[in-house]
Amino acid sequence: MTNPDEILMIPGPTTLSSRVRAAMALPQQSHVSPEFYGAFKESLELSRYLFGNRSGLQFLLTGSGTIGMETAVVSLFEPGDRILALETGYFGHRFAALAEIHTCTVKQLEAPLGKKIDLDTFEKELKSGNYKAVVFTHVDTSTSVMNDIYALVKLCQNNNVLSICDSVCGIGGAKMVFDDLHADLVLTASQKAIAGPPGGTLLAVSESAWSVMEKRKTPIQSYYMNLLRWKPIMDDPKIYLTTPAVQVMLGIHEALLEIKEEGLEQRWERHSKNAEALVTGLQSLGLKLCASPDSRAPTVTAFYVEDGKSADIQETLREKYGIHVARGFGEYKDSMIRVGHFGNISEIDIIALLGALELIIKPGSELGKSKAVESAMPLLRQ
Ligand SMILES: Cc1ncc(COP(=O)(O)O)c(C=O)c1O
Repeated sequence: MTNPDEILMIPGPTTLSSRVRAAMALPQQSHVSPEFYGAFKESLELSRYLFGNRSGLQFLLTGSGTIGMETAVVSLFEPGDRILALETGYFGHRFAALAEIHTCTVKQLEAPLGKKIDLDTFEKELKSGNYKAVVFTHVDTSTSVMNDIYALVKLCQNNNVLSICDSVCGIGGAKMVFDDLHADLVLTASQKAIAGPPGGTLLAVSESAWSVMEKRKTPIQSYYMNLLRWKPIMDDPKIYLTTPAVQVMLGIHEALLEIKEEGLEQRWERHSKNAEALVTGLQSLGLKLCASPDSRAPTVTAFYVEDGKSADIQETLREKYGIHVARGFGEYKDSMIRVGHFGNISEIDIIALLGALELIIKPGSELGKSKAVESAMPLLRQ
């Protein structure tokens, strides 16, 4: 059985608050009861706060982040549309694959490992490619690289190209204000910086993207992943389309309330501070980060360990110290560790991780004299 006190620091899902867990443990409710209707309506309003979305449409669907990505692709794109996919890790590839499956013509623009997309290279590609849309990742969880989404969207706007942003590992921890960003569609999932349970996907859609959907030449090739079909339900959640995952939605509702209570600005600040402290502590141990300094994220950090050691480090952290982190993705499985430090992850958790990591990778070190903790502390005190 999972240790109930384990600190879950994988890059999603993350540790849930006791309030969220209690909300999910309520007796089963009807999905069309006044109680559920009220909570769902309020969740949509709270999602608008979370996204900074007063100008566009807001959606909350049962489904993981990939459902959100596919819903964006299926609802907006038509067969043969030319799509530019920006890749800063595994999830950029996924966006490209989804567009290809739905018979778009996809060009992939890949940044070197650890780097965000270079704006000059991007602009050149945009101008030469006659694209309908660009799909990109805010923070790629596989590399912990964060893109400069404001600059990317501005270039899309200047070139009359739609911009679609996967902020599954961003929203709630990294700054994104939909009304200032002017992207056409931004999506996220419930289990990362929102600190809700897995199973919800949230999308914001601009008025102009909406009119692109309404004016499609071909029908949307999906029943479920069809935003046109979901709009009446978002306007009045009493209308039945499919049965939502009631408990998941109640958990998300509580997590969104907690975000509002903390305040977004404070939440972004907390995430940045914890991320900087973690990075400083890791570097004090001589560990090399995957993301370059200008591409780092406040939500997730990937760092290299001695090749072949990641499984042992992960296991010792978990078994001995009750901290659960993730290993690298794909070819970096054995040489990388990834840490999710979003949602409810606190500065105490950061200190615990640094202290435990030092004990593991520097034999002979003492917890009371942890170099990593000592170097991180001044950043946390600020
Ligand atoms: C950046 C990013 N995009 C998309 C996804 C896919 O989300 P899900 O696993 O909820 O389908 C993930 C999942 O980790 C992610 O990190």
